[in-house]
Parts: sequence; structure tokens; C-alpha cells
Amino acid sequence: MVSNGFLFAVIHLSALVSGHVCVEQLPSIVHLTEGKNVTISCYIHADEGEKISKFLVEWFKEEAEGQLINVGKLSKLKGRLHENTNSIQHSASLSFYMLELNDTGRYFCNFIYRIDHHILQLHANGTRLIVQEEVTADTTIASTTENTPNNTSADTEKVITDNLLLTFLLSLPLLLKFVATVFICVYTLFSYTSIVISCRFT
Ligand SMILES: *[C@@H]1O[C@H](CO)[C@@H](O)[C@H](O)[C@H]1NC(C)=O
Ligand SMILES: *[C@@H]1O[C@H](CO)[C@@H](O)[C@H](O)[C@H]1NC(C)=O
Ligand SMILES: *[C@@H]1O[C@H](CO)[C@@H](O)[C@H](O)[C@H]1NC(C)=O
Ligand SMILES: *[C@@H]1O[C@H](CO)[C@@H](O)[C@H](O)[C@H]1NC(C)=O
Ligand SMILES: *[C@@H]1O[C@H](CO)[C@@H](O)[C@H](O)[C@H]1NC(C)=O
Repeated sequence: MVSNGFLFAVIHLSALVSGHVCVEQLPSIVHLTEGKNVTISCYIHADEGEKISKFLVEWFKEEAEGQLINVGKLSKLKGRLHENTNSIQHSASLSFYMLELNDTGRYFCNFIYRIDHHILQLHANGTRLIVQEEVTADTTIASTTENTPNNTSADTEKVITDNLLLTFLLSLPLLLKFVATVFICVYTLFSYTSIVISCRFT
């Protein structure tokens, strides 16, 4: 447990920012669907020769522009968060369970740490968490059905088939006439030839 004195000291000393310490936060951006879990992590590194003897981590959500709210104070996140700190690895993580659409936002870790006799603080660049609506099977079917009227190739095929049939029916009398004419011509020619042949033999 951190005493009020410690936090008071932080407020007064946080202006003394060390240039040899950095905080890294991962991932910088994450897209997920509703109901998923996610863990974001932070690491604090100090240059060689600098020793972080003690640290604590706070997590904030940027609610409005530049307005940071401690995640513990957000009732809509209650029961869906788990914070973890590893003092040996100088790391910390924040896990979200059963993500909701309105968990979307930017989250920051803030390290309050001690080097020698100084108590300082440093926050990372943050993680942009984007929670999207889950695409259900129903939505997929709906979108597929929606696309079907646009795909007219099947209809086009039917129209072509109908046209062919109509053309055939319309041309049937003409075709019959043509067949009859050819038959008559062949018959005439054949009878003429047979006359010629018969003439030759007579
Ligand atoms: C934080 O952001 C700044 C600029 O936006 C970038 O230069 C820096 O490398 C980032 N730091 C980390 C640890 O990603
Ligand atoms: C989220 O974490 C909870 C608790 O660990 C687990 O029961 C659940 O299956 C996880 N859900 C997903 C989508 O991984
Ligand atoms: C956040 O979204 C969930 C559903 O995704 C809803 O039940 C809850 O009331 C919302 N909370 C706020 C504060 O908008
Ligand atoms: C149908 O598809 C074409 C491209 O093949 C597209 O330009 C058009 O917007 C689509 N129409 C509808 C209603 O989806
Ligand atoms: C339209 O549907 C046919 C099968 O009905 C498919 O072969 C074709 O690729 C589809 N065309 C488009 C543009 O989706």
C-alpha cells in the first residue's frame, strides 16, 4: 500500500524528469470484436547505472481530449479488468475481459518510480483499443442475400435461352418451307435425272 506521503512527494518531484528512463507500451493499437479479451503491457527501462528501486503503476483511460481517468474509477469496466505488476521484470499489464463497444479508447500506463532518492513519474504513448461489433452468421447471410440481386449473370443466361427458343419458334414455318422447297427441288432433280437415265437406256 502506498502512503499519502509517497504520492505527495510524487506530485512535488514529478517535475524532475530523468532523461535516462523510458516506458514502452505494447501494443500501440489493437482491433478486436466484442466479447474478446485483451492484455496490454508496459515496461520501464533505465540506463545502466540507474537503478529503479521501487515503482508502482497506474492505468488511465483518455475519456475526452486530454482528460485521463483512472480505470479503477470507470464503473463500466468494473469486474472486467485485471492488473498485474512484475517488480522483477519492471513490467505491468492490464487485462480486459468481455470487451464492449464502449471500451474503445486510448489507455495509458503511468509509472511512478524511485531512482536514488528521487521519486519520478513517466507515462507511455498509450494503446488505442478499438472494439468492433461482432460479425455474426446472420449478418453474413444478410449481406450475401443483398448481393444476389446485383449479380444478374444467372438472369442474363435465362433471357438468352428464352430468346433462342422464341427465335426458333418464329422461324419454324420458314424452316418447314425451306425443307419442303429443298425436298421438292431434290425430287424434281431426281425425277429429271431418272428421265435422262431412262432415255439413255431406251
Ligand atoms: C512515442 O511517440 C513519439 C511520437 O509520437 C515517438 O517518437 C516515440 O518513439 C514513441 N515512443 C514509443 C516508446 O513508442
Ligand atoms: C476471456 O477470459 C476468460 C477468463 O480467463 C475466459 O473464461 C474466456 O474464455 C476468455 N474469452 C476469450 C474469448 O478468450
Ligand atoms: C457500454 O456498452 C454496453 C454494451 O456493449 C452497454 O450494456 C453499457 O450500458 C454501455 N455503457 C455505457 C456507459 O455506455
Ligand atoms: C453491382 O456491382 C457493380 C460492380 O460489379 C457495382 O458497381 C454496383 O454498385 C453494384 N450494385 C449494387 C446495388 O450493389
Ligand atoms: C454471379 O454468380 C455466378 C453464379 O451464379 C458466379 O459464377 C459469378 O462469379 C457471380 N458474379 C459476380 C460478379 O459475383
